[in-house]
Parts: sequence; structure tokens; C-alpha cells
Amino acid sequence: MTTARPYVSSLRRMSLLDSLLTEANRSLQVLANVAHASRPNPADAAPRALTYSGTTKPDTTASNTSATSGMVNTPEAPPPAPALPAPVMASASAEPGPADVRHSRGLMRVNHVGEICAQALYRGQAVGTIDPRTRALFLKAAEEEVDHLVWLNQRLRELEGRTSLLNPLWYAGSFFLGWAASRAGESFNLGFMAETEKQVTAHLENHLRKLPASDVRSRRILEQMKIDEANHQKTAEHSGATELPLPVRAAMRAMSKVMTTTAYWI
Ligand SMILES: [Fe+2]
Ligand SMILES: [Fe+2]
Repeated sequence: MTTARPYVSSLRRMSLLDSLLTEANRSLQVLANVAHASRPNPADAAPRALTYSGTTKPDTTASNTSATSGMVNTPEAPPPAPALPAPVMASASAEPGPADVRHSRGLMRVNHVGEICAQALYRGQAVGTIDPRTRALFLKAAEEEVDHLVWLNQRLRELEGRTSLLNPLWYAGSFFLGWAASRAGESFNLGFMAETEKQVTAHLENHLRKLPASDVRSRRILEQMKIDEANHQKTAEHSGATELPLPVRAAMRAMSKVMTTTAYWI
């Protein structure tokens, strides 16, 4: 009995250290934009022509490579049939002006920051929870948020834009917030996730209205994200989420407003 206590204490320290190293590694991957998506980018199904700073470029990639299958067509092979519905292809004839491209860059940077925050929140919530089932739920949601991060980063590159300079700050703040939410109990923790996703879905609807009509590729990404976020909300609600008190919901909205306003520019 006298030797068991130091052994258990040592195991706890190792477990904490392991957890800290895992989270440090994860945050570096996310902030360095080297994480990998588990699903194809929804924008791959849209024309590439409307992506650069006011200049329409031919979609050479789309005609030679299938982004979803990874297969490359030989010169002898017939060109693949267009996979898009007619209305989307028709919009490729529109030419975005410099103001449209600047606006798309700002909006997509805001969305990228939102995903940095979501990623950090869920990792923090997972670390702080004691229920293995809830932890698995947060980690799964975080994985899907990585897909969103990667897609948005790819889109920002196409638009010759950049991610927010304040991303390390957003990540650290959100991770701490997620951890704090987890300390308030399982139902609050899940409620925080449900409310986050509810607000994100409303935000995405707003951005879908604000996006320039010509930016079909960004639109495809936001539409898929909206579906995923609504599913995250439902999952949290079905897993025992409680509705958060009004002041907490209002504070979350206020913080989100600060983030979205800042990230559009910085
Ligand atoms: Fe997301
Ligand atoms: Fe989500």
C-alpha cells in the first residue's frame, strides 16, 4: 500500500503530460495549416474559373484530375462529363471585380477563424470532460472541424488571401473557454456545444447571403459546413445538452461579434 500511491501519482502525471503534448502538437498542426482533411473539398465540384483576383483562369486542374477520386486522366481518355448542375456552370461566366474578391477574402478569413475557435473549443471541452463517451463526441466533432479548416485555408489560398494574424490568440482563448465549460458539468458542456453550433449555423446563413454571387466555390464550402454544424448541434442536443442561461448565450454572441469583426481585417 505504501508504494501504490506514488505509482498512481506518477501515472497521473504521465497522463497529464501526454495530454498536454498531444494538445500542443494538435494546436501547432492547426495553426501551421498542416492538418489534413478526411473528406474532399466541396469546392472541388465547382468551377475553378472564379477564384483569382479579378482574373478568370481556365480550369486546367478540373479537366485533368478528379479531386474526389485522385485519378488522373490520360491524354487519350475522353474528358469527364461535367459533374455540376447547369445553374452553377452558368454562373462561371460572371467575372468578380476586385471589391468582390476582397470581400470574399475577408468573409473566408472570418470563417477560418471561426473554425480555429471551434477546433480549440472542442479540444478544450474534450480534455476537461471526465465522461469517455462525451469526450469521444467532442473529439469527433473536432475532427470534422479540421475538414472545415483545411477547406477554408485552401479557398483563401485560391483567393490569394491569408489567414488571421491573431490565430494563436483565438486558439488559446477558445481552448481555455472550452476547458472552463467542461468544468461546469456534462449537460452544460454539451449545451455549450449545441449553442455554439446554433450560432455558427446562423452566422453561416448570414455569410451565404453576403458572399458575392460569383463566388461559387466559397459558397459550396459554406453550404457543406452549414450541414455539418447543424448535425453537431443535433448530436449535442440528443446527447443530453441543456439550454444555456440567457446571459451566457448573450456573452457568446458578443464574443463572436468581436471575433468576426476583427478577423475580417486582421
Ligand atoms: Fe465547423
Ligand atoms: Fe461544428
